[in-house]
Amino acid sequence: KTRVLTGITTTGTPHLGNYVGAIKPAIEASQDPNVQSFYFLADYHALIKCQDPKRVQESRLEIAATWLALGLDTDNAIFYRQSDIAEIPELMWMLSCVCAKGLMNRAHAYKAAVAENEEAGDQDPDKGVTMGLFGYPVLMAADILMFNANKVPVGRDQIQHIEMARDIGGRFNHMFKGQYFALPEAVVDEKGEVLKGLDGRKMSKSYNNTIPLFSSEKKLQKLVRKIKTNSLEPGEPKDPDTCTLFQIFSAFASNEEAAALREQYVAGIGWGDAKNQVFDYLNAHLTAPRERYIALMEDPAHIEAVLQKGADRAREEAAVTMDRLRSVVGLGRFV
Ligand code: TYM
Repeated sequence: KTRVLTGITTTGTPHLGNYVGAIKPAIEASQDPNVQSFYFLADYHALIKCQDPKRVQESRLEIAATWLALGLDTDNAIFYRQSDIAEIPELMWMLSCVCAKGLMNRAHAYKAAVAENEEAGDQDPDKGVTMGLFGYPVLMAADILMFNANKVPVGRDQIQHIEMARDIGGRFNHMFKGQYFALPEAVVDEKGEVLKGLDGRKMSKSYNNTIPLFSSEKKLQKLVRKIKTNSLEPGEPKDPDTCTLFQIFSAFASNEEAAALREQYVAGIGWGDAKNQVFDYLNAHLTAPRERYIALMEDPAHIEAVLQKGADRAREEAAVTMDRLRSVVGLGRFV
């Protein structure tokens, strides 16, 4: 079976970008009988950016409830918390010991932090950079390589990390002369772009420009109205290809539905009108899962039980893999 794996960092409330980039393609993949899927809450990754325990705890529950509300079948998919699998940080250490520091110097998140310090004229380019941030791609490689994932559905922003996982896995295979790890491939949605947020930049928890998936109806309407457009008047033709509102709509809608709105853009639809259409569309599609989400959030015991079951399944496999790898690197038992 093809193995499909992906995770979401538990630092915020899941938004439309997470849905389009990761959750939707992941749930679709898990319905294929030829696929074994592994989906998890990347809660060790959360500690890199967030030292607010309440927030991390809350976000883990929200993200778990989101997957379940959107219909993930957990009898089929293995659904777990990263932090329930102690073998993952163990593998991270083994991988850290074969991963060149220079590879990590090129990681986007680290480079962005250095660039920001340099821009601010800081003496120390590494100011505020922890070993957690620096080694983040190695932890992600451990997540992926542990379960020999073949395909990793992610948004465009994560492609570099999947390539690094390939590099690191390939290097380990080479050093210890064996095919210990399958080398993963990123799977990016055909519509392909990173979904933009309210202000037109990438929709991201860190930019505070997100539309949470399960905002109340009222909030959703308010946020859709806030999506940045330009000052063209009704009657003037508008360009769908540079428009965040259109991008968000077409990430959800079928190709035909997107083509229909495209025609209205060209014919000069007013922004108010366009926003109402997009809101109605999103709301119609999100109402049923929103109701399931609200019910799930009130039943953490159920979510905990589901995650425990997933952790048992994931650990069973991780334990066998690590046993083997310990022997491979010379850390096996004497007898
Ligand atoms: P995270 O939590 O930032 O994002 C989760 C997933 O959502 C996608 N995404 C987007 N896709 C399209 N448009 C957007 N605006 C947008 N914003 C977020 C991300 O690409 C991602 O697929 N390091 C990862 C989590 C992780 C992981 C893994 C993923 C940890 N280990 C192993 C895959 C495999 C992260 O922080 O994603």
